[in-house]
Amino acid sequence: MSGVCSRFIKPLIAAAAIALLAGVAQAQTVLKLGHGLQREAHYGVGAAHIAKAVAERMGGRYKVEVFPDFQLGGEREMTEGVQLGTIDIVWTSSGPVGNFVPETLITDIPFLFRDYQHARSVLDGPIGQATLDKCTAKGIVCLAWAENGFRHMTNSKREVKAPGDAKGLKLRTMENQVHMQAFRTLGVQATPMAWPEVLPALQQGTIDGQENPIGVIVSAKLYQVQKFLTLTGHVYSPALVLMSPAAFNKMSPADQKLLREITREAVTINRARVEELERLGLEEAKKNGMQIRTLSTEEKAEFQKALEPAFREFAKRFGQANIDAIRNAK
Ligand code: PAF
Repeated sequence: MSGVCSRFIKPLIAAAAIALLAGVAQAQTVLKLGHGLQREAHYGVGAAHIAKAVAERMGGRYKVEVFPDFQLGGEREMTEGVQLGTIDIVWTSSGPVGNFVPETLITDIPFLFRDYQHARSVLDGPIGQATLDKCTAKGIVCLAWAENGFRHMTNSKREVKAPGDAKGLKLRTMENQVHMQAFRTLGVQATPMAWPEVLPALQQGTIDGQENPIGVIVSAKLYQVQKFLTLTGHVYSPALVLMSPAAFNKMSPADQKLLREITREAVTINRARVEELERLGLEEAKKNGMQIRTLSTEEKAEFQKALEPAFREFAKRFGQANIDAIRNAK
């Protein structure tokens, strides 16, 4: 190579190498995914599917790193993180999401969904999609509805079989206006707090109880501090997979589509795990000395009756027609 030629070619080779390296760096965009449960719990198995499928099917352009167990903060903080762009993906209960996207709050109304099939078909249908679409204007991309499960009450004080038994109990609720209002209507001392603070509060006796799906109750070993479990199933707890627009908008439309598809597959895995943990969890709770009370249909109806003043408020806030559209969906 002559001196003149090498003077021109060397910078070209260097530029090509830099471009190549930049390309490699782009190919390795890392997406941080945070959630608050263990790896083997119902969010964990969904998150693991996302990480694996992204690695296998997105041509190496993305890598999803999963941070379980609230390593990235409580659910409210993580939701704020996706809005700010400091976290890329969050798998969270709907609990705090209503503080950012108020349209999701309607799904947190007690006794709205009859069973899992009902909840899933509404959330996967046009009503669910229309609600997910509302997220964009709030600076969040809602990739899909996922599942936490039907919530049940636990406490350390007494058996709860009627609304009167719940009255006066100091129960932790999620940081969710609809839940807080419903519990206050029952005469419960509703105490909103982030989940990571709950176990210490139960241990120290600053609260008497809490409510959560069986999978959460058992994996957190709440039987060590809570004697009474009532299968109230008082509210279905949806979850959501949220993404930061900053990260989402950098993806090509084809990659965005693929990520949504992968997320929906992850939700199927998540929902199956909710049911599995529920089956296994009840046995484990019993084995560990929890006193479990199943409510009869009539007893559940008593709770619904006691909640009527709250239902009237929810009708004013969300519109009776909108509530009925969910309640009467097949
Ligand atoms: O009770 C809550 O805050 C939620 O159900 C939990 C345990 C964080 C799971 O999303």
